Amino acid sequence: MSQTFETLGRPLPPAPSAFSPAWRHVLDRPLGIRTELDRMRRQAPFYDATVDEIDGRRIRIGDHWLTDFASCNYLGLDLDREIIEAVPAYLDLWGTHPSWSRLIASPRPYDDIERMLAELLGAEDALLLPTITHIQHSVLPALVGRGALFVELHAHQTAHDGAAMVASRGGTVARFREDRLDRLDRLLRAAPHPRVICVDGVHSMTGNGPPLDELLPLARAHDALLYVDDAHGFGVVGERGPDESSPYGSRGNGIVRHLGAGYDNLVLVGGFSKAYSSLLAFVACPTEVKEYLKSAAGPYIFSGPSPVASLATGLVGLRVNERRGEALRARLHRLTSRFLDGLRGLGLGTLNTSGFPIVEIPLLDADNADPLGRFLYERGVFASVVPFPVVPRDQVGVRIQITAANTDDEIDHLLAVLGEAGDRFPLVAASGPPDPG
Ligand SMILES: Cc1ncc(COP(=O)(O)O)c(C=O)c1O
Repeated sequence: MSQTFETLGRPLPPAPSAFSPAWRHVLDRPLGIRTELDRMRRQAPFYDATVDEIDGRRIRIGDHWLTDFASCNYLGLDLDREIIEAVPAYLDLWGTHPSWSRLIASPRPYDDIERMLAELLGAEDALLLPTITHIQHSVLPALVGRGALFVELHAHQTAHDGAAMVASRGGTVARFREDRLDRLDRLLRAAPHPRVICVDGVHSMTGNGPPLDELLPLARAHDALLYVDDAHGFGVVGERGPDESSPYGSRGNGIVRHLGAGYDNLVLVGGFSKAYSSLLAFVACPTEVKEYLKSAAGPYIFSGPSPVASLATGLVGLRVNERRGEALRARLHRLTSRFLDGLRGLGLGTLNTSGFPIVEIPLLDADNADPLGRFLYERGVFASVVPFPVVPRDQVGVRIQITAANTDDEIDHLLAVLGEAGDRFPLVAASGPPDPG
């Protein structure tokens, strides 16, 4: 029997007054713009959930089965038998965890992955750290120093946190908007060097890529570096060519190659925690910059490394990508197109103009976020309901992520549920006319 709204609500925590003054000083502080997020996290079944079981892209929470459309495992490698079965041999060879910080020593798979990555990306070199979060917090300040950082307003929160680190070390930080590059141009003229412009690659909410064709010439004209966080593009989109299996391009070597740009004055950051279903991240840069970062980026010196299982799934994942990546991307593209076509057929709109597998559907009234999320949950759809301030108020809505491990039936069920949801909680309409039939 599926759970109801009432049984899904979790008890609220004890009132802050039950805590000692030391804790009250912490807990009494207002959360400010994260108040709504906090409320939903505590009360909504689709947040902070404990998943008891998975079966393909079906997940069980308590006794309620849902289809997972909140997964970033775009290629479905989390469920890939070849990768799963390869892991124990690496554990036998290397134990569970190297435990040295990378400055002290790294097991051989690190070198292998960095070499394979550089070749895949077509970059001179690559440096691995555990997560993109580590990279944003350490590589951004290492690059900027006392110079100037320009962060796109809608870049991922980890980039804005990295910007705070830059500011704390004497760098200058300014925000800009991708659709107001004239302003960035003016800001760059007066900025101290080094100058770094930071943007998301494939955007985690809109699913669209950045205007590299405008940003790169601007960066080069001002002797600035362009730093691109392609967490969601790496593994999904890649270089274009006559043999590509889908419009996502080939090899999954990221948004820079997909848009036909090169790496001059460009730092590409990407991660394995999405398409590769692992815990590793990289900075693609010239070897000399890599050597500099080994001494300048804190996590290389002070943090624990990725576990061996992550090195194994990263390394074997890259090999699987070589052999089977095109088929997986073709399937991912086909499923995403089925969803986008169906959405248009329902007359519903999305921020996604790229066709990539992140599809956000805004609500007309942001106050409906919670009831919409509960409705989807009850109907067996597990998706991210994105509140303010994660997205601007006019973009509050539901984010659907498709993976190659989803099925046609799951997409059709999702569309049926969204059609019903749209009747109750008005969603943004498609800008063009709905597809006939
Ligand atoms: C755009 C973007 N950058 C960075 C991150 C953080 O990545 P990691 O898990 O490697 O720290 C995410 C994760 O959601 C993301 O969406």
